[in-house]
Amino acid sequence: EKHGFRHFMLKEIYEQPGVVRTCLDHYLNLDWVTDRSTNPINLGLPVGLYTNLEQVQIIACGTSWHASLIGKYLIEQLAGIPAQVQYASEFRYAPPPLTPNTLTIGVTQSGETADTISALNMEKQRRADLDDRFQPRLLGITNRMQSTLARLVDYAIDMHAGIEIGVAATKSFTAQLMAFYGLALDLAYRRQTLSIDRLEQIILQLRQLPGQIEAILETQEKQIEELAHEFSETQDFIFIGRGINFPIALEGALKLKEISYIHAEGYPAGEMKHGPIALLDEKVPVVAIAMPGSVYEKVLSNAQEAKARDARLIGVTPVNDPHATEIFDDVLTVPDVEELLSPILAVVPLQLLSYHIAAHRGLDVDQPRNLAKSVTVE
Ligand code: M6R
Repeated sequence: EKHGFRHFMLKEIYEQPGVVRTCLDHYLNLDWVTDRSTNPINLGLPVGLYTNLEQVQIIACGTSWHASLIGKYLIEQLAGIPAQVQYASEFRYAPPPLTPNTLTIGVTQSGETADTISALNMEKQRRADLDDRFQPRLLGITNRMQSTLARLVDYAIDMHAGIEIGVAATKSFTAQLMAFYGLALDLAYRRQTLSIDRLEQIILQLRQLPGQIEAILETQEKQIEELAHEFSETQDFIFIGRGINFPIALEGALKLKEISYIHAEGYPAGEMKHGPIALLDEKVPVVAIAMPGSVYEKVLSNAQEAKARDARLIGVTPVNDPHATEIFDDVLTVPDVEELLSPILAVVPLQLLSYHIAAHRGLDVDQPRNLAKSVTVE
């Protein structure tokens, strides 16, 4: 069932263009193109979920937590609603003070993660006896519409990623990002925080994503595989990113540590100088996610600071900027898209990089030590 792929993880990385297409088919309303009185987004969520909304809180673990950080960015920047992201395992034992008119979103691929389920249960219970303004509004984002999570929440968004077998989440992460694009745009449309032109522009760009992910897979994999072989002895990796791509630095580092057992950390690029830069020398490669947009120049200058400490510098960036290609020792090329859409492309070369490092080390990529696909103990 691996269809010629050596591991499920690689197969699932390659399934991402199809997953994004499926999400677009489900989340976007085609009628909107001709009939502007309809809602462009089709998530099947009732208006009541959004009425008087003042706050969004998102609860998740692991890779789902990383997707949620991007979700927060999208909800805040597109729909103008303050959003918080909590680790389920932390939320449960130190719940934040109750805020009124709050949408609580549980994000879990499996829908069975014990930490996430119990945090949501607790949130539901502690709001149940309060007045209207504090009533629970629970939304789930999950790949399993029959799961415990799906039964617990009022509404769920189906991620449509198809079953994911590799322990390292890849296509489910991409699908979660798609769900968050859908949700943030749905919110923005209903709250009228975006112009119709801008909405249209974003939707058009979302439609380009499957082809752009295909282009990365087709043109980059060979080079990434060769690069990966150079890291057989590497013991530490640093990933840096900013803004909407800071969570991609975290995700790149998590993928690498999970399956290759190499120590890796993701940092907001601007934080390096506040401590972590002391770790750098020629033995610690730095991967910088440098996607054009509001923090592009900042990331490049943070990358230069790393280079000045002799770190080998790998850039995830489009190649059309000679300045950038000069700074980086190696470039993992991604199409030049607007910042808002960039995380979904930037993550793909990082998935391939961890995959090839782990595969080259001869490790059990699909079943890494000490890990289970779904963590059903708290
Ligand atoms: O099923 P979930 O999305 O709730 O799982 C959460 C984490 O356990 C999961 O994302 C984990 O971090 C993955 N192994 C990451 O690749």
